[in-house]
Amino acid sequence: MEKRYRLNNGRAIRLVEGDITRIAADAIANAANSALAGGGGVDGAIHRAGGAEIMRELDEMRPRVGRVPAGQAVATGAGRLPAQYVFHAVGPVYRDGRHGEPEALASCYRVCLEMAEERGCRTVSFPAISTGVYGYPAEEAARIALREVRGFLESRAAGVQEVIFVQFGEAAYRVYERLLGESGLKEAQD
Ligand code: APR
Repeated sequence: MEKRYRLNNGRAIRLVEGDITRIAADAIANAANSALAGGGGVDGAIHRAGGAEIMRELDEMRPRVGRVPAGQAVATGAGRLPAQYVFHAVGPVYRDGRHGEPEALASCYRVCLEMAEERGCRTVSFPAISTGVYGYPAEEAARIALREVRGFLESRAAGVQEVIFVQFGEAAYRVYERLLGESGLKEAQD
């Protein structure tokens, strides 16, 4: 399943159901943890598909960067993934939405987009950060992700041309599809 939505300035938001490790993009965002230690979920999938090189890079930078707070991210190469970079973003653990979770989640998307911009990336893919083990309600998280990405794509002059939301499973895909449908963005026919 896949849909593409076009912004007025020609940039695009793509919505895909599937495994983020199989979809080509200049940069792939990961839902990592503060220790950059790897884990299950999308983090596990990215390390498995990308190979040991990614963890080696994280091992090297860990003493230098220490614990990465929620809302921040670090960049590595992408190993065997169909990408140049992986941005390891640390999402917030959801408690009740009143402990800075929305701000931290929004920051994950903004920081990754800035990193993409600095590296000359034209396409960036995102999983639904924090909505697995970290317990963020899917729709609340999707609203934040869409607001941040759309705001970025609408306000910036150059660089990132397409953001790909890769949703794992039909239920997650449908949430994005509904919110994008309500947003007034036009579905692209190309
Ligand atoms: N492609 C795309 N999305 C995926 C994939 C995949 N291959 N695998 C899982 N997902 C989806 C999940 O369905 C969920 O919606 O990614 C979303 C985020 O879930 P998690 O991977 O559990 O991430 P998060 O909730 O941010 O928790 C982060 O989990 O694996 C650990 O090291 C990670 O400790 C960190 C924590």
